[in-house]
Amino acid sequence: MSTTNTGNLRIDWAAREMPVLDTIKKMFLEQKPFTGKIVAACMHITTETANLVKTLAAGGAEVHLCASNPLSTQDDVVDALNSHDNVYVYAKYGESTNSYYQSIKAVLTKSPHLVMDDGCDLVNYLYTQEPALLQNVIGGTEETTTGVQRLKAMSKDGILKYPIICVNDALTKHMFDNQYGTGQSTLDGIIRATNILLAGKTIVVAGYGWCGKGLAVKARGMGAKVIITEIDHIKALQAHMDGFTVCSMDEACQYGEIFVTVTGNKNVINTHHFEKMKDGALLCNSGHFDSEINIKSLRSLSVDASMVKENVEQFTLENANKIYVLGEGRLVNLACAEGHPSCVMDMSFANQALCAAYLCSENLQPGLYPVPDHIDNFVAEMKLKSLGLKIDTLTNEQKKYISSWQEGT
Ligand code: NAI
Repeated sequence: MSTTNTGNLRIDWAAREMPVLDTIKKMFLEQKPFTGKIVAACMHITTETANLVKTLAAGGAEVHLCASNPLSTQDDVVDALNSHDNVYVYAKYGESTNSYYQSIKAVLTKSPHLVMDDGCDLVNYLYTQEPALLQNVIGGTEETTTGVQRLKAMSKDGILKYPIICVNDALTKHMFDNQYGTGQSTLDGIIRATNILLAGKTIVVAGYGWCGKGLAVKARGMGAKVIITEIDHIKALQAHMDGFTVCSMDEACQYGEIFVTVTGNKNVINTHHFEKMKDGALLCNSGHFDSEINIKSLRSLSVDASMVKENVEQFTLENANKIYVLGEGRLVNLACAEGHPSCVMDMSFANQALCAAYLCSENLQPGLYPVPDHIDNFVAEMKLKSLGLKIDTLTNEQKKYISSWQEGT
C-alpha cells in the first residue's frame, strides 16, 4: 500500500474521534467562509492536523502547511494531504533546522490572509524576515501556551499588526488538550521509546501547570512515585495538596529515575543537575521547545554519546554514569509517539477552525484576543452531544436566584 493510502486511512481513523470538527466541516462546506483566502499554517503534521486542514479546505481555503517541529511530522500524512485539492505541505520527518525554516518561508511567500501557528515560529519569521507580507494578513491564531507567551511579549512591545486569537486560552482547549492529552501522550512517548515499566519508578515532573498536572496524575495512576518541581508558590502548594512530593530540581535530580520537563522554560535541567543524577537516569521533555534540558551541556560533559535505539541517545559521563535522552529533548509525545489522542484534538481544532472563520467575518483591530465565549461554549456543547451526555438547564427561578442578592436563609 502506498504511503498516501496509509496516510488517508490513518486520517480517517482519527476522524472517527473528531465529531465536532466534522460538524464544523459540514457547516463550512455550505457556508464557504474562506473563499479566496490563503491560510499559512505551522503545526505538528499529524492525522488530527490533517482533519483540521481538510476542514479549512472544505470551507474554501487554500492551505499551505509546514511543521512546527522537525520530529513531529508523519510522512504518510504529508503524502496524503499533498494529494488533496488546495492543500500543500512542506515538511519531512527529521528535517534539518535549515529545511524547517525554508518550509516556514515557503508557506509565508504564498502571501497568506490567515496565519495559524503553534509555538510562534511562523509569526516570528513573518515579523523578522518577511515583514512586507504583514499587510496581507487579516488575522491569526495560536495553538499553544509557549506561543501565547511570546505573543504577549510582542503585544507588550506594541508591534502586533493584525488580530490574533489565543486558541490555547479557550477552556475547551487547555483544560483538555494540555491536561488529558499531554498527560496521556507523554507517557505513551516514554513507553514507546523505551518499553520501560512505570510502576514503582520515581518520575520527576518539572512544571505543575496544565500539562504537568495531567502528566503527574496519570504517572501516579500507573504506579509511579511522582516528584514535582516548580517555581510558582501556588502551583507548588497545589501539587503538595494533590499528594505529590514537592522539592527543588537540585534535590529531585538525585532521586529521579525518569525526568520530564513541561514548563515552557529553558535549562530547567542543567549542568549541575546531570552531575548529581543516578546512573541510568532517563530524560525527556514535553514542553514546546527543545530548550528545557540543556543537552548541549550534557553533550560537552560526556565522554561518549551514542544512539542505543530509535529515539534513545545514551550519554556516558566521566564517572561512567549513563544518562539517556529521548527524542533529542523535543516534545516526547510527538517525537516518540503520535501526539495527543484525536478525541481531545477534536476540541482544540474545532476552536481553531471556528476562530479562523470568526476572523474572516469580523473586522478586528490588531492585538491579542481570547477565544469568544460563544465559540468555547459551542465546542463544549457539541462535544457533550457527540458523547451522548445530557446536562441540566437552569429554571427561570434558578436564573433569577443566582443573579440576585435579596434572598437569604
Ligand atoms: P502552564 O503555564 O500551565 O504551566 C507551566 C508551569 O511550569 C507553570 O506552573 C510554571 O510555574 C512552571 N515553570 C516555569 N519555569 C519552571 C522551572 N524553571 N522549573 C519548574 N517549573 C517551572 O503551561 P502548560 O499549558 O502546562 O504548557 C507547558 C509547556 O507545554 C508549554 O511549552 C506548552 O506550549 C507545551 N505544550 C505541550 C504540549 C504537547 O503536546 N507536548 C501540549 C500543550 C502544551
